[in-house]
Amino acid sequence: GELDVDSLRGWIRDVPDFPSVGVLFRDVTPLLADADAFGRCIDALAAPWQGVGVELVCGIESRGFIFGAALAHRLEVGFMPLRKPGKLPPPLAEVEYALEYGRDRLQARAGTLAQGQRVLIVDDVLATGGTLAAAHELVARLGGATVGAGVVIELAALGGRARWPRGVPLHALLDY
Ligand code: PRP
Ligand code: HPA
Repeated sequence: GELDVDSLRGWIRDVPDFPSVGVLFRDVTPLLADADAFGRCIDALAAPWQGVGVELVCGIESRGFIFGAALAHRLEVGFMPLRKPGKLPPPLAEVEYALEYGRDRLQARAGTLAQGQRVLIVDDVLATGGTLAAAHELVARLGGATVGAGVVIELAALGGRARWPRGVPLHALLDY
């Protein structure tokens, strides 16, 4: 198409055995460093949400901040970070979720969202889906209404989409 999303693949580097043996890591830093590729990526992330009435973008630490903040600017709305524990001052809301081994938490500032505010959740990668599902729950706990989620990369073999609420749009630019 006009945005030529598939050409963005050339800007994502495959790194075998990172961060641990057997993992094939998709590194988006080459894409970020190229002005044209990064710009086209943000345009493509924005496209499904034009006219949908997004009022705020929530980006997930860490790489979701980079794409989410650029996308918020592109959509002319504000940005709220969803952070790993211990980073944000109170008052906080938080959600605990399962990792492959152990548990993690996502936190956000309480009192930022208006009741029913229309939120778009953004991250770089959808893997097992635990993080994105936790972000959805956290926004709900804060009184927000999630209109959808956008990610750059979906690792489809890991089945993360199944953990995302049915009926809420989830757009991925690239399937791997
Ligand atoms: C990665 C990625 C997503 C999450 C996806 O973050 O950026 O946030 O994992 O995994 P899941 O779908 O299995 O939950 P990571 O924990 O590496 O944090 P970082 O962005 O701070 O490096
Ligand atoms: N790349 C970047 N982030 C990730 C990946 C990956 O391959 N898997 C889980 N999070």
